[in-house]
Parts: sequence; structure tokens; C-alpha cells
Amino acid sequence: MQDILIDTTEGVMTLTVNRIDKKNSFTQPMYAALADALQHASDSADVRVVVVQGHTTIFSAGNDIGDFLSGASASADAPVFKFLRTIASFPKPLIAAVCGPAVGVGTTMLFHCDLVYAGDNAAFSMPFVNLGLCPEAASSFLVPQMMGYHRAAEALLLGEPFMAEAALEVGLINRIVPPSEANGLAQAQARKLAAKPISSLIETKRLMKKTNSAQVQAHMEEELHSFGRMLREPAAKEAFTAFMEKRRPDFSKV
Ligand code: COA
Repeated sequence: MQDILIDTTEGVMTLTVNRIDKKNSFTQPMYAALADALQHASDSADVRVVVVQGHTTIFSAGNDIGDFLSGASASADAPVFKFLRTIASFPKPLIAAVCGPAVGVGTTMLFHCDLVYAGDNAAFSMPFVNLGLCPEAASSFLVPQMMGYHRAAEALLLGEPFMAEAALEVGLINRIVPPSEANGLAQAQARKLAAKPISSLIETKRLMKKTNSAQVQAHMEEELHSFGRMLREPAAKEAFTAFMEKRRPDFSKV
């Protein structure tokens, strides 16, 4: 079974994260598949809107921790970075349906989506500090901008999760529905968008994003530089090893 399922029907490309046994955590081949699919969607006249979805119980547990440990994510040309650059500059409408935990990149990618529909079981978290890392996907810029600095500090320094109601309040998501309805709502909204003139959609999105785009790019590149370095440092190694060994990390010596 493929870890990323791709279906294109009537102008809507749906990307389903499908690695449920590992809580939809992302491996480098999965990022590569997502980046390629988004690039194809960007270039192809057959795709007008993209929907990203997971399972009703889990959106994504973020980056695969084994990949972090092996160093697969550390090089500047790793597929994760291609995926992040592609999603951040994706020109057509992008919708996410999120149920269950959305950890790390599972949350930060949502800042690059245009519409986000969440199940009432959605739980968002960006525990980069708890893993000895720093934010990615321009979240160090976009989270304070959206939530205000102090709420961003709770999310990014403490790494505290927040639930769908809080995400709705800060504007990260558009609507909360029962988990069984989230994917269907995303599809219904995608079909509405797919019926609209694509050039107007692209130009409107470009104009809305214009003010932020240079800063998003600059933050993302700086974050990726730091993130790649921190992946190799002792704090991150301890956090990843502790996760694999199913114990609490001990940062007292790092
Ligand atoms: N990378 C690799 N494997 C992961 C994973 C990840 N990010 N998240 C979960 N898994 C694996 C677990 O190791 C476990 O594998 P096993 O069955 O072989 O032991 C399986 O998925 C189920 O995970 P488990 O933790 O038992 O599920 P849960 O329902 O109790 O908790 C989460 C779900 C998402 C809250 C929890 O798995 C978690 O916190 N994951 C890590 C999140 C993280 O720190 N991601 C990195 C962000 S940068």
C-alpha cells in the first residue's frame, strides 16, 4: 500500500497520507511524493485545487523520528525541504482536512494551506524545542504573526498542544466538524473552488500572500539552516533515541 495516495477527479487532486501504523509520520520518500504531486498540480491544467487529508484518527505525527536519527533529513537537498519550499509557494488553492493529532510539520504545513477544516478531535502541536530542534516551514514567523507573540511562545517554546477550538479562535482553521465529516467538507469546498475561474483564484491568492512572501522565504531558509545543524546535535539525538526507546528524554547533560 502506498504511503501517499494521489487521486485527481474533476480538477481536484486529493493527497491522502496513508501510513497509519506509524501515525502518518512522514519519511523522505513521502515528502518527495508530496513535493512531486504539488509540482505536477502546479503545472497541470487538469488540477485546479489540491486537498491534503489524513485519517479520521490521525492527521500526522510529523517527521519520522527514525529518519531524523539516520540523518536522512539533514542535508539541504533532502526531500523535506523541497516539500516545504513547494507547499509555501504553491499557487493554486490548497485545502487541508485535519483530524486527530497534527504534530510538527503536520501543523506547520497548515500555515501554507488556504482553507483548513478540522475534526473536533484535532490536536495541533509544534514540539520542536522538546526534540532539541527549532521551528520549520516559516512557522517562527507565521505562528507569532497569526496567534500573537505570547500564544506563539506557548506553542513553540513550551511545545504545548492546542485543540480545535483554540485553533479556530486564532484563525488557523476555518471550521470544526465531526471527524467523519472533515474530508467530505474539504471535498465539497474544493469542488466549489474548482468551478471558479482558475486565473482569478491564482491571482487572488498571489495578491493575498504578496506582503508575506519574501519574509516567509527568508525565515524558511534560515530555519532550515538551523534545523539541519540541530538535527546532528546531542539534544536532538537524545530526544530521538528516547522516543525510539519509549522513555522520557534526559536533557540534563546536553
Ligand atoms: N516517527 C516514527 N514513528 C512514529 C512517529 C514518528 N514521528 N510517531 C508515532 N510513531 C510510531 C510509534 O513509534 C509506534 O510504532 P510501534 O507500533 O512500532 O511502536 C506507532 O507509530 C504508534 O505510535 P504511538 O506513540 O504508540 O501512538 P499514540 O496514539 O499513543 O500517540 C502520537 C500518537 C502522534 C501522539 C505519538 O505517536 C507521538 O507523539 N509521536 C511523535 C510525534 C513527534 O514528536 N513528531 C516529530 C515532530 S517534529
